[in-house]
Amino acid sequence: MVNAPLALLAELTHRCPLRCPYCSNPVELSRASAELATAEWARVFREAADLGCLQVHLSGGEPTARRDIVEIVAAAHEAGLYTNLITAGVLLDAALMQRLVAAGLDHVQLSVQDAEEAGAERIGGMKGAHARKADAARLVREAGLPLTLNAVVHRQNLHNLPALIALALEWGAGRIEVAHVQYYGWALANRAALLPTRAQLDEATRIVEAARAAHRGRLVLDYVVPDYHAARPKACMGGWGSRFLAVSPAGRVLPCHAAESIAGMVFPNVREVSLHEAWYRGEAFERFRGTAWMPPPCRGCANAEKDWGGCRCQAFALTGEAANTDPACVLSPHHGLLAAAVAEAGQAEFRYRGVA
Ligand code: SF4
Ligand code: FES
Repeated sequence: MVNAPLALLAELTHRCPLRCPYCSNPVELSRASAELATAEWARVFREAADLGCLQVHLSGGEPTARRDIVEIVAAAHEAGLYTNLITAGVLLDAALMQRLVAAGLDHVQLSVQDAEEAGAERIGGMKGAHARKADAARLVREAGLPLTLNAVVHRQNLHNLPALIALALEWGAGRIEVAHVQYYGWALANRAALLPTRAQLDEATRIVEAARAAHRGRLVLDYVVPDYHAARPKACMGGWGSRFLAVSPAGRVLPCHAAESIAGMVFPNVREVSLHEAWYRGEAFERFRGTAWMPPPCRGCANAEKDWGGCRCQAFALTGEAANTDPACVLSPHHGLLAAAVAEAGQAEFRYRGVA
């Protein structure tokens, strides 16, 4: 039986003023001219609500790079969805914030690249970004909206994890997501510069646990661990085609935001089919739904309905075959690839998009 999805990730645009080396968007980005129009997004939101979605995450790229972001928020709100804006914050000003609130925005997730200016601006590749983020956090709080800080952590900023948690408190966030980089899309090209050591990971886990206890009732800490030091994979997306769907800037309906990185897969487009049709009958959703598609060692494994064989995008990125067991699993014949990548890590230079 196929359940209704809980949430829609609406990737409004791939345009972004930042150039984070861990970007999980595809290496080939959608052009602005291919982006869905306001009315098309409005229809997508109505279809998502009819399908059973409760929330929409408005993401990108940078969603506020869309000139119609206020109309888009209003359309999502009118469709009855809880609206969450996932933003770098550098394009937000007081006037835009006011219009977004009036349009029905419910929540803001603000990304932060590091706890201090120099590191943050080197990682994000944009001068002045950190100060603008501090302003954006203030505007969100003054508007009375709940704020979550998204801190993507890796080899080159983990030493600042306590300061990142302190920043969340200082900026008035009620939640911080401490997320280790996941290696799909552009992030894979920067893996050697980003992968943490085992010692860094263990220290980060200790810091998160201590902060959870110290700030209980004031700050919620979500923690996404990296696969490369794991023995079992994560249940990516809660299972393919099980809880979430994403729509790309050009309208492709995806079982996960990184699914376009899997070569050879064809995805339905909202310009041709309804979300209902894509979710319940789309071949791309059926392909890895449930457990029937699984090869050994997942087939028959006691964990098959717990982790769903891990992540299809990672299996493809590392083995060239999306149907393989995620190499993060110790039972995968490809598990050694992860230890090899960890052993090779340490290079300091980032590769930025648009720079050869
Ligand atoms: Fe999960 Fe497959 Fe590994 Fe079993 S073999 S733990 S189902 S990834
Ligand atoms: Fe695509 Fe895990 S990121 S299935």
